[in-house]
Amino acid sequence: MEKMPFTPGADAIVSTVPLPAQEPAAIDWRTGLPTLTGSLVTLRELRHTDAASLLASLTTEEVTRFLSPPPTTVEGFERFIAWTQRQRAAGQSACFAIVPRDSDVAVGLFQVRSLEAGFGTAEWGFAMAVEYWGTGMFAEGATLTVDFAIDVIGVHRLEARAALRNGRGNGALRKIGAVQEGVLRRSFLRNGEYLEQALWTILEEDWREAKAVWGPNIIVH
Ligand SMILES: CC(C)(COP(=O)(O)OP(=O)(O)OC[C@H]1O[C@@H](n2cnc3c(N)ncnc32)[C@H](O)[C@@H]1OP(=O)(O)O)[C@@H](O)C(=O)NCCC(=O)NCCS
Repeated sequence: MEKMPFTPGADAIVSTVPLPAQEPAAIDWRTGLPTLTGSLVTLRELRHTDAASLLASLTTEEVTRFLSPPPTTVEGFERFIAWTQRQRAAGQSACFAIVPRDSDVAVGLFQVRSLEAGFGTAEWGFAMAVEYWGTGMFAEGATLTVDFAIDVIGVHRLEARAALRNGRGNGALRKIGAVQEGVLRRSFLRNGEYLEQALWTILEEDWREAKAVWGPNIIVH
């Protein structure tokens, strides 16, 4: 079994206080993801030992209904976690565990992956155990993730795809200020059926402008 590598950068803390605009953050996230702290959630690097709680959190019918099928065993999640760490070290993606502030148990994921050389355009995705839906943890974790993508990685356009039938996934994106740009016709194969997906985007300049108006912790509708 692979062990979590020693990562000197992994102890850095990034809070919801915004980084200075346009100034690249001095965090080398490829050597280890920083811990992002909010009032409801902590986002941190995935650990090998998160496999069992992720299996319990992310394999229920409610969570997987509109997602690509996740691993079905603890070992499968362990392999996934090891893969996310290799992807991070290669500068290809960042995958955070969602951890409620009062615990150390991973109950979900935020993933950001590069769609082009240099990570200017990226795609993100997220999933969380159903018992935490509607608690505000998503919005706070999403804000931390988008801040990280823009301020630390340097993403200028962040895309998300959600099956049109996924009312909650689309509602979640809308409420944090993502803009629906269009519909990707028959773009997602799920259970033998091609589904339509909405394409949602957040642009760096819109995000900074919204935060300048509403403040660092305000979610823009
Ligand atoms: C996506 C996910 C992380 C969002 O977390 P969440 O806690 O459910 O999100 P929130 O409750 O903060 O926001 C969802 C919003 O959608 C709204 N909503 C719920 N059902 C809806 C529907 N059928 N149509 C439109 N909006 C809907 C909710 O009212 C809420 O908005 P509000 O807070 O303004 O009332 C979570 O639902 C999840 O893990 N889903 C399964 C995985 C998934 O679908 N991932 C997204 C792939 S793009």
